[in-house]
Amino acid sequence: MAKKLWGGRFSTSTDADFEAFSRSIHYDAELAEYDVLHSVIHVRALRNAGLLSHTESKALLKALDALRRDIEAGAFRPDPREEDLHSAVQNLLREQVGDLALKLHTLRSRNDQIAFDIKLYCRKNALEMHEKLRMLSAAYGELAARYENTPFLGYTHTQRAQVIRFSDHCLAYAEMFGRDRKRLSDYREHVRPEIGAGALAGTSIPHASYAEAIRETDPENRLEITVSAAPLDHVSDRDAVIELLSICAILQTHISRFAEDMILYSTAEFDYLDLPEAFCTGSSLMPHKKNADLMELLRGSAGNVCGDLVSLLVTLKGLPLSYNRDMQLDKEPLFRTVKLVLAELDQLARFVPGIRLKEAVIAKALEDEHLYGVEIAEYLVHRDVPFKEAHDIVGGLIRYSETQHILIREIPDTELAAFHPALSQEKLRSIMTPEYVIDSRNN
Ligand code: ARG
Repeated sequence: MAKKLWGGRFSTSTDADFEAFSRSIHYDAELAEYDVLHSVIHVRALRNAGLLSHTESKALLKALDALRRDIEAGAFRPDPREEDLHSAVQNLLREQVGDLALKLHTLRSRNDQIAFDIKLYCRKNALEMHEKLRMLSAAYGELAARYENTPFLGYTHTQRAQVIRFSDHCLAYAEMFGRDRKRLSDYREHVRPEIGAGALAGTSIPHASYAEAIRETDPENRLEITVSAAPLDHVSDRDAVIELLSICAILQTHISRFAEDMILYSTAEFDYLDLPEAFCTGSSLMPHKKNADLMELLRGSAGNVCGDLVSLLVTLKGLPLSYNRDMQLDKEPLFRTVKLVLAELDQLARFVPGIRLKEAVIAKALEDEHLYGVEIAEYLVHRDVPFKEAHDIVGGLIRYSETQHILIREIPDTELAAFHPALSQEKLRSIMTPEYVIDSRNN
């Protein structure tokens, strides 16, 4: 049976069901590469502090390097009966170097390890998300370029509002995802993995020994590891996890809104878009169906991602300092959200290039005269009519067209003159076109 890292003061053995219940090895093994890195730095710090001989540290580092290579090759198979990753690493090392492995944990705590591991995990995945968002933005850029000046319908309150370009729609999402990217790069700027906090109170290993060990392990300071200056905070802090989950929740909200736009615009009721078949599904009963399932899954994933953020916020609320076992429960929500968001970004970047506009349907919808109300009012404003008055005149025109069952563009000049002398059928017809609107905009 796997050996525990503790137990000397206990006279009875742990309840088997509790042991199984409290185990984390089945998910924290995900952090193995970072935990081995912690061990490498710690062994070097112990050597620098004179607590391990050069021969001992060499043997341990060699075994740790072999373990690192196994992990890299996907060959890390910890005993599932281990309590956690940290115990698994020590027990695997013991198989390699014998009792020398018992020195690995000198003046070290799993509280320090797990806080270190999790921050490195978050930083690495923030970078990966950043890169995937870059690819997604490129996909939006290409779509926007394909439909650069194609007019489209803009909505507020899900009611037809004004003419826009389809590229404006793409740009809106590119901007949202651009802000998500910025949040991720800012995140990497200030989230710094720490080491050397002991259980909560620091240890007698000098900071200089750790600092030297960090330099030796990461000479270019790519990982930006620091020696813990506030140990009590380090072992208690899960801000990095909450913050990454918050960034993911905002990003997921953007994904969800985009998905909803795609679902709505591809319905027979709107019918503006054709979605790529490779990401749609059919019905087992209704032969005609083409369902936007990927978009529905992306829209629905907001429940999971926001839930994961909220679950951790609630877990941490009111927790006394410093480390508490409650914190073990941060991992599953974090891993689940990170994997989900990364997968969503991959799918989305491949989906976006396949979107096609149904330009004939859109052109027909753009004949709706209400879409040009603002432009008519604006024309009057340029003729020195106060905006409120212009607003009322256009409102009157719309009411007249509805009550008289006549299109605004069909109202004869004689009747138009009663609304305002500057209005003529010819003028209104020229204003009420998508081309006029797009040419008149400052963007
Ligand atoms: N499995 C624990 C976690 O994920 C590791 C730290 C455990 N520390 C302890 N003193 N039991 O938080």
